[in-house]
Amino acid sequence: MDKNGSRKIKTILDCDVGHDDAIALMLGASHPEIDLIGICAVAGNQVLKKTLTNTLHVVQHLDLDIPVYAGMDRPMVRDQIVAAEIHGETGLDGPVFGPLTRKPEKEHAVNYIIRTLMESEEKITLVPVGPLSDIGMALRLEPKIADKIEKIVLMGGAYGLGNYSAAAEFNILVDPEAAHVVFSSGIPIVMMGLDLTNQALADMSVIERMEKLGNKAGKLFGDMMRFTFQTQRMFGLEAGPVHDVTAMAYVVRPDLFTTKPAYVEICLDKGSCYGRTVCDFYGIAGKEPNALVGTGLDLPRFWDFVEENLRRLN
Ligand code: RIB
Ligand code: CA
Repeated sequence: MDKNGSRKIKTILDCDVGHDDAIALMLGASHPEIDLIGICAVAGNQVLKKTLTNTLHVVQHLDLDIPVYAGMDRPMVRDQIVAAEIHGETGLDGPVFGPLTRKPEKEHAVNYIIRTLMESEEKITLVPVGPLSDIGMALRLEPKIADKIEKIVLMGGAYGLGNYSAAAEFNILVDPEAAHVVFSSGIPIVMMGLDLTNQALADMSVIERMEKLGNKAGKLFGDMMRFTFQTQRMFGLEAGPVHDVTAMAYVVRPDLFTTKPAYVEICLDKGSCYGRTVCDFYGIAGKEPNALVGTGLDLPRFWDFVEENLRRLN
């Protein structure tokens, strides 16, 4: 329950920390209406060993008492790819952390997701902001979990240009088969794709605004986004987008976004469109929409929201 006695939203974050993943984690850990019950690390921006280490560093650095689980170390079918050119060799280049003492839980993230959903009396919201390998595997291992999921609010895909191929966005392209399992599951999906997330640019004024908070969270925001401020320019962007933060923000502040329903299908043909999220806004295929797709963002209120929540952290 939050301070007004209303029920908090039980949430599991699945991420490949990553700079923007870390900020989404900070939001989930700080917002009074989100009950972030677990964090799962998946291979994506970097290999699992690195994304797990990065996740543990962030929760330790900010003194967050949230269990961390190691998930899939590779995609379900295709060969592995990583994004060192964006997130660096560590997957979280920029900030410097102390010696790592935090340990992950022993249970595999996929088993944790299945067990927690099946045991929960209330539905749980899943926020995957990396490749969908953990969620896809969980749905294949135990299809009954679909009835225990409130909704899946994911960062991934695009109805316009991709960022890891001309057609496909990184999270989806890393594991298209897992994405197919998720988008064909019938579970309510909110898709924050690049067309939306590239609007959330952390330019220097935003970086300095968060650093002025004077706490560890604000400094971590600055150290991370000063790094991706450079690497994301390859897409012609003026600064680094905080892609994943939009997904976590939507959980409690859907009013910051405009969305459109669409039937979204994952292209699994092994050609130039492999991993593309084909978004049928006009119902041309005659199929019912399976996702709400983010199209617009109220950027000034979004940054107010981010600042307000980072302020709550150490
Ligand atoms: O394409 C952007 C996505 O890829 C984000 O989730 C970022 O963290 C990387 O995982
Ligand atoms: Ca990510």
